[in-house]
Amino acid sequence: MDTAHPSFPILVALFVLLLGVTSSQPYEEFLQCLEFHDNYNTTISQVTFTPINSSYDSILQFSIKNSRFNTSASPKPVLIVTPYSIPQIQTTILCSKKHKFQIRIRSGGHDYEGLSYTSPDQNSSFLLLDLIRFRNISIDLAQQTAWIQPAVTTGELYYRIAEKSSILAFPSGICPTVGLGGQISGGGWGTLLRKYGLAADNVLDATVIDAKGRILNRASMGEDLFWAIRGGGGNTFGIVIAWKIKLVPVPATVTACTVTRTLEQNATEIVHRWQYVVDKLPNDVFFMVVLNSVANPVQANATTIQASFNSLYLGGIEGLIPMMDAKFPDLGLRRENCVEMSWAKSILYFAGFPLNSPLESLLDRTISATGSAKFKGKSDYVKEPIPISGFEGIWEKLKEVGVQTGGLILASYGGKMSEIPESSIPFPHRAGNIYQVEEVAFWVEDGVEAADGYLNWLRGLYEYMTPYVSKNPREAYANYRDLDIGRNGGGGEGDYRRARSWGSSYYKNNFDRLVRVKTAVDPANFFRNEQSIPPLSSWR
Ligand code: FDA
Repeated sequence: MDTAHPSFPILVALFVLLLGVTSSQPYEEFLQCLEFHDNYNTTISQVTFTPINSSYDSILQFSIKNSRFNTSASPKPVLIVTPYSIPQIQTTILCSKKHKFQIRIRSGGHDYEGLSYTSPDQNSSFLLLDLIRFRNISIDLAQQTAWIQPAVTTGELYYRIAEKSSILAFPSGICPTVGLGGQISGGGWGTLLRKYGLAADNVLDATVIDAKGRILNRASMGEDLFWAIRGGGGNTFGIVIAWKIKLVPVPATVTACTVTRTLEQNATEIVHRWQYVVDKLPNDVFFMVVLNSVANPVQANATTIQASFNSLYLGGIEGLIPMMDAKFPDLGLRRENCVEMSWAKSILYFAGFPLNSPLESLLDRTISATGSAKFKGKSDYVKEPIPISGFEGIWEKLKEVGVQTGGLILASYGGKMSEIPESSIPFPHRAGNIYQVEEVAFWVEDGVEAADGYLNWLRGLYEYMTPYVSKNPREAYANYRDLDIGRNGGGGEGDYRRARSWGSSYYKNNFDRLVRVKTAVDPANFFRNEQSIPPLSSWR
């Protein structure tokens, strides 16, 4: 206990009095519970925020990365806790259990459906455990490993690695503001996936606090739980407070390229051809295609479809051009389409920053790839090339929405992703996939009517994609959370049979093992949300 501060119980009492809390407030008993576990080495007013606190809105909104859930109608936490220390997290678990508070855990706040800070259930009552202060990174260059805390963003990690070495990296996501607490919990793919697999494939150890408040590492949690937390979804098995990750080698110079083609420039044929090439390229090449509707550059007041081919090659431009000429001549890749840079800089390139942006931009967690837009995403996996006629139908769908408000992102698979067995970690989408698809809609308009318009458009596109994508189950990426494919009952109450449908899409045959692990480590389903794995006891 820090003796420079007045005692914790007195501060709690003062805090409660100052806020004018009445016995009807749902958080009063919770705060009193904290009072009896005075392991806070700071004052309670610095770590707990109720809706009448002046900082409540700014703390809640700081890590909301989808404006769709930042409205007056979005259900809000009855209390926000921003702990400094592990004992404070343990106390929060203990008091939440005692007072039957559901907790939402937030690291980077990028959950597609906002489940780390809100709920689709208007009647839900929950507490937000915001891990924003858990941002330490400790890199061991000799061992080529690092310990990272959950609110570290991918950009912060890449920057700190680059500070120490230009030939090391980590195979996590492209957007630099995403939190590694949530991202590794669901997989985590980026431009290194064909070379090294996912972020979750490169985790060596972890520190987790379980539903009993115990601090576990890989040895003490056992291999089943260690398996489950690497891709089995966040807020399900415990609170990850640190990951130990394996850094991977990259060349000092990599080459990033962009080629854009419209329908008038043969985009349909080139995208079609891309499918036959992309999963067979050397593992040093990553390829992504962004498809959307744009203003027609050669015809006023008209739109066309643009395919933007973005690639990263782990090497210099001299090696890339002859290889692409040989393997994918249809693209017509030229030197002027490409720029050599460090791997860390290539993250800024892929995230859409101007070429002269300083590397420090990776540290700015307030920048959002989606800006202030509202969005919804859905995902698919393609195992057989889509025919030309299939793409022509996609173009019609894209023309239905405004320029740049809806699109598809195709990300190449193959390489290391095909070598890792489906059951290695809970993420099962491995051999046999040519590419992953994300269908997405963005909009800025407020109101339910506008939202419904974009959501219906996206659902129509997803329906259209049905014959061209994986089946039985129709696979989906857990980190592109989509409540349309199914959800637990109100407040996250699990039901095994209901969960099986969306669970199979995310985890395929790994779903049952995830249920067994959940049943063993959290049978009372303390950690839960609308798409957390339910324990077997929920089979009603
Ligand atoms: P957030 O804090 O919202 O957490 C997501 C989920 O994990 C929630 O259920 C939460 O409760 C739980 N959780 C968070 N921290 C936890 C912890 N410490 N312990 C236990 N549970 C925890 N994905 C990808 O693979 N590659 C990419 O390139 C991108 N790019 C991208 C860009 C943008 C703009 C967005 C919005 C999203 C992505 N994603 C992505 C998807 C992203 O990986 C996914 O949304 C992650 O879950 C986000 O992790 P955060 O910690 O930021 O979110």
